[in-house]
Amino acid sequence: MCGIVGAVAPRDVTPILVEGLRRLEYRGYDSAGVALITADGVLDRRRAQGKVQQLADNIAAQPISGHRGISHTRWATHGVPSERNAHPHFSEGQVALVHNGIIENHDELRAELRGKGYLFSSETDTEVVAHLINDTLKLNGGDLLASVQTAVKRLHGAYAIVVVSPLDPDRIVAARAGCPVVVGHGDGENYVASDVQALLPVTRRFQFLEEGDVAEIRESGIRIFDAKGAVAERPLRESSLSAESVERGDYAHYMLKEIFEQPRAIADTLAERITGKRVLEAALGPKAELLLPRVKSVHIVACGTSYHAGLIARYYIEQGAKLPCTVEVASEYRYRDPVVPPNTLFVAISQSGETADTLAALREARKLGYLATCAICNVPESSLVREADLTLMTRAGPEIGVASTKAFTTQLAALSLLGLVLARHNGMDASTEALFVRQIAHVPELVERTLKLEPQIKQWAQQFADKRHALFLGRGPTYPVALEGALKLKEISYIHAEAYPAGELKHGPLALVDADMPVVAVAPNNALLEKLKSNLQEVRARGGKLFVFADPDTGFQAEDGVEVLLMPEHIEAIQSPLIYTIPLQLLAYHVAVLRGTDVDQPRNLAKSVTVE
Ligand code: AGP
Repeated sequence: MCGIVGAVAPRDVTPILVEGLRRLEYRGYDSAGVALITADGVLDRRRAQGKVQQLADNIAAQPISGHRGISHTRWATHGVPSERNAHPHFSEGQVALVHNGIIENHDELRAELRGKGYLFSSETDTEVVAHLINDTLKLNGGDLLASVQTAVKRLHGAYAIVVVSPLDPDRIVAARAGCPVVVGHGDGENYVASDVQALLPVTRRFQFLEEGDVAEIRESGIRIFDAKGAVAERPLRESSLSAESVERGDYAHYMLKEIFEQPRAIADTLAERITGKRVLEAALGPKAELLLPRVKSVHIVACGTSYHAGLIARYYIEQGAKLPCTVEVASEYRYRDPVVPPNTLFVAISQSGETADTLAALREARKLGYLATCAICNVPESSLVREADLTLMTRAGPEIGVASTKAFTTQLAALSLLGLVLARHNGMDASTEALFVRQIAHVPELVERTLKLEPQIKQWAQQFADKRHALFLGRGPTYPVALEGALKLKEISYIHAEAYPAGELKHGPLALVDADMPVVAVAPNNALLEKLKSNLQEVRARGGKLFVFADPDTGFQAEDGVEVLLMPEHIEAIQSPLIYTIPLQLLAYHVAVLRGTDVDQPRNLAKSVTVE
């Protein structure tokens, strides 16, 4: 959730640290800080509450420089967002430390360290780790690597930490347990970060730390040690991402850029995985052809938007493959005792592949006797991808806006492929598969056409901007689309939005409907259309204003109290959820812009939720 950058170089590393933070800011943005060993050989730092720009302004006003340094952008867990709680945290001027994650035994460690005379100046769990490492440094004559290796053995929880000390000034040291850490190789200088994106302006060559690894980063090179302290070889990978791939270009916000990237992102996700007639099963990895024919049921687990993608995938799997499928939020799944029928496939969906609950659910599932685990993910180097048996990568490219858009539609594209492969193994004939494959292949063009509805949606947005609540309705596979539309609206515009299956209205939510409650309906021409129409009549009868996204042949007419926006012609089943998602994303975006919220970095949220 937070972002970390560190660098060791024969030049001032401050610009590397600050630019790295800018690139990670979408991960946490309530405060930021840098710490360096100065030319005088002492630790110095600048911290600021708020955005990275605030930190940059502080540095401009009060310059700081050094050849070894660390930096951090924070998403508060322990302690309010404030300069005092911002990282890096110091211990007696001998250790500076940045940390992502949560130290669960911080209370116990704090009591112990207080007993030894350490003073605490923040409310964070992080500060205990700085003191703990300093305490170990005192005992071992200032060996930073050994101190970190010793200290982390006492930590419970999930963390990525990076540490610098003037007592051992030629290196910085990083450790990983539960939160990602990547080291970057430069020419005569080296780096560390929580994500490759931070380091793309300075290198493309990376190694990813594994669970329990500790790394030392020097100008002359990087060494990685495993949890037992043995030197570990981690593969050197060349990133294909360019520094520009995470830039906003001419778009006002990343979210808008990412909405408009969807035709390309979906096409990329389908590329080389379908022929004109069939899905290539090998796209799910070398083990797919062995495992997928044996699948008899599917359990899907995910969080947030990815969970909504799972809810839609259930329709693909149950209707297409005729296999039982359950879908559950990861934070619930991980703490119950699921009954796993024989030959069940476990599917974890995650844009980032680092979401703590989803990752924990995958790890739990690996102990429970599933036939196999499968990750649907957007980040090839992520923990989820490394730990699953099968992987199906979405190829959305980096998603920076906290509100997930292109990650969601590419997940749907990937899940439709999985559904078709399972369907083929369960009796779907070749001509039916070919029909569905043609429909999927047509989606990027349909999304392109749907994006052209933006001007009308922008007008509708004006009718939402002053509202406090909104209701979203759908039925069947478009009920999860309504859920996703409501999530988008609430997370970026801060309007309270709820989604209901339209049939549930009269069981409670109808009581909320009045002239101040805009009601958005997602109305494809499917078997439930007439039932949905009746539900919408119930809304109209109570004075609720309807905003209906509908297929052209549904017969909806704009009238007093009813706005109608017709979608491009398309085919039900696979195409509808993808197509109907687009206007809901645009609606949320334009409402948020009108309300003047921080669209890309909405309050209280972060992009990748690596804490429980
Ligand atoms: C969606 O707009 C959210 N920001 C959030 O719900 C997100 O989808 C969720 O945190 C899961 O993230 P993941 O896909 O990276 O696991």
